[in-house]
Amino acid sequence: MRTSLIAGNWKMNGSLQSVNELIEGIRAADAVGAELVVCPPAVFLFKVGGMLDGSAVGLGAQNVCNHEAGAYTGEVSAAMLREAGCRYAIVGHSERRSLYGETDQLVAERFAMAVSGGIRPILCLGETLEQREQGVTEQVVAAQLDAVVDHCGIEAFAEAVIAYEPVWAIGTGKVATPEQAQAVHACIRALLEGRDAQVAAGIRILYGGSMNPGNAAELLAQADIDGGLIGGASLKAPDFLAIAQAVD
Ligand code: 13P
Repeated sequence: MRTSLIAGNWKMNGSLQSVNELIEGIRAADAVGAELVVCPPAVFLFKVGGMLDGSAVGLGAQNVCNHEAGAYTGEVSAAMLREAGCRYAIVGHSERRSLYGETDQLVAERFAMAVSGGIRPILCLGETLEQREQGVTEQVVAAQLDAVVDHCGIEAFAEAVIAYEPVWAIGTGKVATPEQAQAVHACIRALLEGRDAQVAAGIRILYGGSMNPGNAAELLAQADIDGGLIGGASLKAPDFLAIAQAVD
């Protein structure tokens, strides 16, 4: 049985004041059936980690360096993330791929460094609108996934999470239909099954892209959708919690 995971990717949003309010709101929630994780900007990780002390809500980073330590200006290592209290790190988000030129190879290296540093990677995969219209969604997602499996080995996925995030649904208000999302999730699980049936059965595959309290229940009811990676709606505690409650 896979425990659903609802993770909030705050992206580059917030201030000391709004972070306080958001965490207070999330902490005030009654127990929900899903595991909850928040991924604040790196500069807020220590603060949020402290605020979450003693709570069941987990902490995640939005990226992790592909090196252990050294002259990598602007990067944050897995060991540093651990010290800040992170359990998870997002890798390969489409904004990193498209705006900052992160390649499949770099994403695979970041994934490997997370795993070896004791951080669970949340690996993002997804096609652009053009690719969907060309009918190559499954090939695109398979190539993104294979790059990481080939580099890290399927064993590295034992504690990992995958997020299917169609690029055309991110921040656009255009959500994939439950059928569209389920089809890709099932395809990702089948690809993993070809490598290791146990990993495929246990791994959580999240949907991300304009998920909100109004559309979450239908998406989360799909057999291969094990949670959500939430952007905009994770910045409001009531919305984030309403999505988590939709798991039940
Ligand atoms: P939105 O929920 O704002 O569409 O963002 C999704 C996302 O990119 C989460 O990583």
